[in-house]
Amino acid sequence: MTTQNTNEKTTALVTGANKGIGYEIAAGLGALGWRVGVGARDDGRREAAVQKLQAAGVDAFGVPLDVTDDASVADAARLVQQLAGGLDVLVNNAGVTGGMPQEPTQVSPEQLRTVVETNVIGVVRVTNAMLPLLRRSASPRIVNMSSSVGSLTRQTATTDQLSTGPVSAAYSPSKTFLNAVTVQYAKELHDTAILINLACPGFVATDLNGFRGVRTPEQGAAIAVRLATLPDDGPTGGYFEDAGVIPW
Ligand SMILES: NC(=O)c1ccc[n+]([C@@H]2O[C@H](COP(=O)([O-])OP(=O)(O)OC[C@H]3O[C@@H](n4cnc5c(N)ncnc54)[C@H](OP(=O)(O)O)[C@@H]3O)[C@@H](O)[C@H]2O)c1
Repeated sequence: MTTQNTNEKTTALVTGANKGIGYEIAAGLGALGWRVGVGARDDGRREAAVQKLQAAGVDAFGVPLDVTDDASVADAARLVQQLAGGLDVLVNNAGVTGGMPQEPTQVSPEQLRTVVETNVIGVVRVTNAMLPLLRRSASPRIVNMSSSVGSLTRQTATTDQLSTGPVSAAYSPSKTFLNAVTVQYAKELHDTAILINLACPGFVATDLNGFRGVRTPEQGAAIAVRLATLPDDGPTGGYFEDAGVIPW
């Protein structure tokens, strides 16, 4: 991938990169020789992740970033411009479940608000703040971490909780919402070089699910790394897992 940013290196920013799948996405992109911004809201956890990545040979830098906070996101865009001279790839990985159980008959408005604020509005907030930087890249890519539980086709095909997750009025619908918003971005940006796609990592053992997942964070990161490194004639507005396209 080439870049028109002021630095010759490809630069990526990964949100929620201090642990779990986000950390492994940062490690995977760093292993390609890219400069990687580690977006994280907690100073200690962010610095620990940056140091671990640097010890593994990654050109990593910390980016203080709370995706629910306008000022934090605006500051992050300024910092990325200042430290890296631009941005080629944005991976919107940060996400929360809002806590279980969250059956629709019991979910609280506050639970819903928190999840949508992070998983949907947070992605829009970060994407729009980073777009001026991305537009200057020759091959800009945006990857939004969704989940197969956001697929209404799958949700309505089975009640099997292994493939659709538990009954959820906040988390799963937030990913459906994110899918829909991502399609609209792809429509608006179709005449630009920006490719924007959705990734599903599979059921991964992380804090998000009390480490009940069956895949490693590294395995979960692979699809996001693939979508971050798409060729210029690659897809946009798509919804992918390792095995291929996920039905909406
Ligand atoms: N694990 C799975 O099986 C699975 C399946 C499908 C999709 N996903 C998606 O994959 C993504 C990563 O999840 P994970 O499993 O790696 O979970 P995780 O280990 O809990 O990591 C979530 C990350 O998001 C960050 N985050 C949460 N709210 C944030 C905010 N307001 N601002 C900035 N960062 C914030 C967390 O930071 P803190 O450390 O500060 O909390 C953490 O770094 C999520 O979008 C999730 O929905 C996961």
